[in-house]
Amino acid sequence: MTDRELCVLAIKAMNNSYSPYSDYRVGAALMSEAGKVYTGCNIENSAFSPTCCAERVAFFKAISEGERSFLKIAIAGGKKGEALNETISPCGVCRQVMAEFCKPDFKILLVKSENEYTETTLAQLLPLAFSGDNIK
Ligand code: THU
Repeated sequence: MTDRELCVLAIKAMNNSYSPYSDYRVGAALMSEAGKVYTGCNIENSAFSPTCCAERVAFFKAISEGERSFLKIAIAGGKKGEALNETISPCGVCRQVMAEFCKPDFKILLVKSENEYTETTLAQLLPLAFSGDNIK
């Protein structure tokens, strides 16, 4: 699966977003080292704090299926009814979840449109991460 194809899956995953409170749809497509893709969308809640980001939904789907090693994730987001026109960057909580399971060179694709994305890494988005090593 190419980076571009993963970006298209992230955009498609936005369609399932449950976001009646923000009207902000997010989609993520996560590829495991085994080559399987897990998608996720944001799932909001009237009590707000139970809301889960698209990235964590994708990770938790994959982890619950037994996956533990990941290559890359594509993330797309935008207001309902508007064309995609800007990249979104994962929130701090999602970065920390990524750090639990991914190496610093884990590739993160920030989708701008079907044909445009910015490539970054976990190390760039979460330098000096707290990890399990700290509490051993
Ligand atoms: N959201 C995500 O799904 N991923 C992020 O990285 C940032 C924010 C969602 C949460 C909420 O449903 C909506 O976007 C607005 O914050």
